Amino acid sequence: MRAWLLDLLACPHCPDEQPLSLRIDWAMDEEIIDGRLSCPCCGASWPVRDGVPRFVGSDQDYCGNFGFQWQHWKAVQIDRLAGHSLSETRFLADSGWSPDWIKDKLILDCGCGAGRFTDIAAKHGARVVSVDLSQAVNACRETTMVWDGRVQPIQASLFDLPLRRSVFDGLFCMGVIQHTPKPERLMTLLPGWLKPGGRLAYNFYEADFWPKLQPLKYALRLVTPYLPTDWTLALCQGLVATLFPLSRALSGIRKVRIVNHVLPICSSHDKALNREQQYAWTLLDTFDWYGPRHEIRQDHHKVKALLESQGLKQVQASPGLATASAP
Ligand SMILES: C[S@@+](CC[C@H](N)C(=O)[O-])C[C@H]1O[C@@H](n2cnc3c(N)ncnc32)[C@H](O)[C@@H]1O
Repeated sequence: MRAWLLDLLACPHCPDEQPLSLRIDWAMDEEIIDGRLSCPCCGASWPVRDGVPRFVGSDQDYCGNFGFQWQHWKAVQIDRLAGHSLSETRFLADSGWSPDWIKDKLILDCGCGAGRFTDIAAKHGARVVSVDLSQAVNACRETTMVWDGRVQPIQASLFDLPLRRSVFDGLFCMGVIQHTPKPERLMTLLPGWLKPGGRLAYNFYEADFWPKLQPLKYALRLVTPYLPTDWTLALCQGLVATLFPLSRALSGIRKVRIVNHVLPICSSHDKALNREQQYAWTLLDTFDWYGPRHEIRQDHHKVKALLESQGLKQVQASPGLATASAP
């Protein structure tokens, strides 16, 4: 944990944004590796372990699948480590933020996974607090260590953030909203952490017709979120080993490639990736289909209305995307 984070932390249980106190047990190279945070007001306390403050009990973590997923495939989607720019292209397009705007900003990554988008914000000069409910924070810490202490992962729930409100210049929540039990509540809570004028970007699964074309995926999903992780992994490995050659062949044929959407694997055949990378993305994304406990889709018209009803400004929404700024 970096010392600068302490100023941003607040007890998630007490009113009035109670600051936390820190006991340092072991520090190395200006990073607090082990220690304990506690609230002088209510007496609650939380460990700092392996450089990460941890506010989540194992009974609150419904994302064991993601903890496994992002530690297992930690480098696959990190541009800098995998030699492509797919994450950067998507981040800048979805957020609508320019590299000039990102520089020197304080940004909150809500549901960081392995740090795919944290890494891009840090690359463009931001200081980033990266929150995730799961053990994915360990992967995020590893992948983003290169940024001179400007990235700080926290293991916490987005529904119970241990952070002072109204302090962030920007926040993004990408690929997360549909995987929470209460997407609308999450989308209305998060803007409270933005400064006046701060910017927000959400992407989410759109409530569109695609699920109707994926009966096999949704039949399997009746069971897979409740299986042990290694069973889900074995199932995904089997499906991808069997169907990847077909989906790769189909992806090269215009008009026919739409058939890929019916297959029960999440094919990824971007030309920026070589064959091995496409295979790894397909396996990762297929596991990402079958592991999550929750998959709740949103209608972007309703998301727009929801954000406007919260008093947010410049609300824009398109299928799977919404951006806005705080009043
Ligand atoms: C599909 S992953 C997306 C990760 C990353 N944003 C990306 O796009 O690569 C969804 C992430 O949301 C996290 N998540 C789900 N519910 C959460 C919650 N209540 N609080 C914090 N993180 C949560 C999961 O642990 C998981 O890492």
